[in-house]
Amino acid sequence: MKPIFIMAIISLLIFLSLPTPSFSLSQPCNKDDEKVLFQIKKSLGNPYHLASWQKTLDCCHWYCLKCNKTTGRVIELTIFSGNISGQIPHEVGNLPYLQTLLFRKLTNLTGEIPSAITKLTQLTSLRLSWTNLSGPVPSFLSQLTNLDFLDLSFNDLTGSIPPELATLPKLSGLRLDRNKLTGVIPESFGMSTGNLQYLYLSHNQLTGDVPRSLGYLNFTWIDFSRNQLTGDLNMFFGANKTIQIADFSRNSFQFNLSEVEFPASLMYLDLNHKKIYGSLPLTLTGLSLQYLNVSYNRLCGKIPQGGDLQKFDNTSYFHNRCLCGSPLPACT
Ligand SMILES: *[C@@H]1O[C@H](CO)[C@@H](O)[C@H](O)[C@H]1NC(C)=O
Ligand SMILES: *[C@@H]1O[C@H](CO)[C@@H](O)[C@H](O)[C@H]1NC(C)=O
Ligand SMILES: *[C@@H]1O[C@H](CO)[C@@H](O)[C@H](O)[C@H]1NC(C)=O
Ligand SMILES: *[C@@H]1O[C@H](CO)[C@@H](O)[C@H](O)[C@H]1NC(C)=O
Ligand SMILES: *[C@@H]1O[C@H](CO)[C@@H](O)[C@H](O)[C@H]1NC(C)=O
Ligand SMILES: *[C@@H]1O[C@H](CO)[C@@H](O)[C@H](O)[C@H]1NC(C)=O
Ligand SMILES: *[C@@H]1O[C@H](CO)[C@@H](O)[C@H](O)[C@H]1NC(C)=O
Ligand SMILES: *[C@@H]1O[C@H](CO)[C@@H](O)[C@H](O)[C@H]1NC(C)=O
Ligand SMILES: *[C@@H]1O[C@H](CO)[C@@H](O)[C@H](O)[C@H]1NC(C)=O
Repeated sequence: MKPIFIMAIISLLIFLSLPTPSFSLSQPCNKDDEKVLFQIKKSLGNPYHLASWQKTLDCCHWYCLKCNKTTGRVIELTIFSGNISGQIPHEVGNLPYLQTLLFRKLTNLTGEIPSAITKLTQLTSLRLSWTNLSGPVPSFLSQLTNLDFLDLSFNDLTGSIPPELATLPKLSGLRLDRNKLTGVIPESFGMSTGNLQYLYLSHNQLTGDVPRSLGYLNFTWIDFSRNQLTGDLNMFFGANKTIQIADFSRNSFQFNLSEVEFPASLMYLDLNHKKIYGSLPLTLTGLSLQYLNVSYNRLCGKIPQGGDLQKFDNTSYFHNRCLCGSPLPACT
């Protein structure tokens, strides 16, 4: 027998031994959703990125989509890194079972966030990031009460953070970093009844004191770096907090660090470029720190010796008023 026949027989045997293909058990794509998807494709100018969106193929098998296999309804639309120009089509609001909506790394995507998105009441994850979307962070997003994760980072959004976002009852992660947002961090976030653990507001132009009410939440990860925020930060710390990563660098915070009690969960602390005074608290020696930077502040006194504190080089500590001791020169 020629090798090609042997290959063919082996392939046939393998094929027969496979279970029945599971797609035969799935519902075909819902016709209303298919119609909406064609409108979206047209609205985006029939981009090459959506070339698989063809009548000849069941829409649950198209790229950038996921259906619920039982119902054939589209539950995920994820358009990522394509050559796509134009605005977010308002027709996306007509995919009523959508749980995940993502437009990401599309630099030619412009315009504002369309209010049609508020029709997507089952949405748990909304990510519109690395685009050229402009306009405000819309307060109408607070109508998406099932949202767990809202990511509007790396866009051209302007205006202030709408206080209404704090009312989202299931929100655990909020990213508004790398925009051009101004104004204050709303007090309302501290009153939120949700479980906000991840809050990224870095690289904006936020001003004002960070509300003390944020201390009521149990954050895991905070990044407020590169804004013009002022005030105190000690409400984020304390023995029974769970914060792991805290980047407050490059702001105008001004407070006495001496009495701050850092929780054991803390792994990453960046406080560089501020107006922090006092001394480094001894509790820092009890932590398993992977990163520490308190440079460019107004700290004084001896760097506590022990724990991980001498593992970092002198750039973690330099440019303070009178900090001394290893890894900086000895105190005199
Ligand atoms: C699919 O839809 C069925 C029926 O509505 C529902 O029970 C199931 O949880 C859904 N599955 C997913 C992954 O959403
Ligand atoms: C994107 O599409 C436009 C118009 O179709 C084309 O001129 C351009 O070269 C494409 N860019 C890339 C990076 O593929
Ligand atoms: C954006 O649009 C411009 C102008 O049509 C095109 O040259 C460029 O390749 C596009 N870039 C991407 C990443 O789509
Ligand atoms: C999109 O953003 C990039 C980087 O911010 C910028 O260089 C480009 O001009 C913008 N394009 C449009 C169409 O606004
Ligand atoms: C934060 O955690 C503490 C201790 O686990 C808990 O008592 C408190 O209710 C939590 N607060 C919020 C807002 O989840
Ligand atoms: C620990 O957390 C509880 C509830 O959040 C609070 O009432 C208590 O004062 C805290 N204890 C310390 C030592 O911070
Ligand atoms: C900071 O607080 C410590 C302890 O409460 C105090 O001894 C010190 O004088 C304060 N430093 C400044 C500069 O206010
Ligand atoms: C700490 O921050 C300063 C200022 O940005 C920087 O020069 C230095 O390299 C940083 N040190 C470390 C260890 O990252
Ligand atoms: C930091 O350490 C480097 C190399 O060990 C040394 O050249 C430099 O003088 C030190 N700077 C300070 C401020 O201690």
